[in-house]
Amino acid sequence: MGWRGILGFDYGIVQGPLGPDISGPELVAAVANAGAIATLRVPDWESPDYVRELIQKTRTLTNKPFGIGVVLEFPHKENVKVILEEKVAVLQVSWGEYPRELVSEAHDAGIKVIHQVGCVEDAKKAIDAGVDAIIVQSREAGGHVLGQEGLMTLLPRVVDLASAYDIPVVAAGGIVDACGYVAALALGAHGVCLGTRFVATTESFAHPIYKRKLLDYEKTEYTNVFGRSRWPAPHRVLETPIFIEWRHLPDNENEENQPVIGRSVIHGKERDIRRLAGTVPNATATGDVENMVMYAGAGVGLIKEILPAAVVVERLVVEARQIIRQQLACD
Ligand SMILES: Cc1cc2nc3c(=O)[nH]c(=O)nc-3n(C[C@H](O)[C@H](O)[C@H](O)COP(=O)(O)O)c2cc1C
Repeated sequence: MGWRGILGFDYGIVQGPLGPDISGPELVAAVANAGAIATLRVPDWESPDYVRELIQKTRTLTNKPFGIGVVLEFPHKENVKVILEEKVAVLQVSWGEYPRELVSEAHDAGIKVIHQVGCVEDAKKAIDAGVDAIIVQSREAGGHVLGQEGLMTLLPRVVDLASAYDIPVVAAGGIVDACGYVAALALGAHGVCLGTRFVATTESFAHPIYKRKLLDYEKTEYTNVFGRSRWPAPHRVLETPIFIEWRHLPDNENEENQPVIGRSVIHGKERDIRRLAGTVPNATATGDVENMVMYAGAGVGLIKEILPAAVVVERLVVEARQIIRQQLACD
């Protein structure tokens, strides 16, 4: 069972980018200071000056290296240019292909590229493009979900594939604690990527009501009812009353003809939030926050308290070591 940091970081623990702005500078700095791989998230639109500010603000809060996530389905070329200029340590990409030329460009700037994928075929494409690590996201994951399979069956196949190339594989989906971490290591992962657990931290930019619901709810569902007109990708959400009421939304309907239920400032832009929009409530959200979408992974029932991000990282490391030594060591 592997136990070491990856890509030059102390630990193989990744805080996945949390859109639209939930993994802001405070969370990223806290995770980076704890020795894990933290990732900001760029806006879903081109906003190079804003991206530079985001990176620079994070640098005022930490001297440690950190990463930034780009969802390739949205316009991003100008944003990536700034990421290269600013020489952020890690570029995380997802929801699209990132060809060899662009990976090389990032490498020339001294930036490591991590591609989050949801199947073996996409892992192969990312390896062929020369990425430095792969995150394998399974169907248990919170947020928008690339993976169609459970981690237990998907992860070992990607590990098999990547082992010939010496590329670390990071497991994502439903992992919230040291037991999940150790289980992923046993399946061959070199690290883990957690999303939901980091939403439920003191430093995340999630609205307090969203954070509390992550403690209150145990059940999630894989669905496609939220935010269909803007980003029609499957996602996993808490089974809140609004979701239960609308879970059978006919295929030809979306949030466009729903009433505005609140407002939010997202990456510096004020936005209306319609019922069934795909935007989770951040700390600035006002209005009917309870009825905004709440992304969460299948492991949410194991999250019992809001913790400082550094404590999340520390417990993962300390308790995983204990489990390996005390419960799994062979004589
Ligand atoms: C609120 C939220 C927002 C997310 N936003 C993004 C994103 O912008 N880009 C991305 O690659 N993954 C995103 N993810 C997925 C995470 O990077 C990660 O794959 C996932 O959270 C792992 O599953 P877990 O939530 O069960 O830990 C998001 C997840 C959540 C919960």
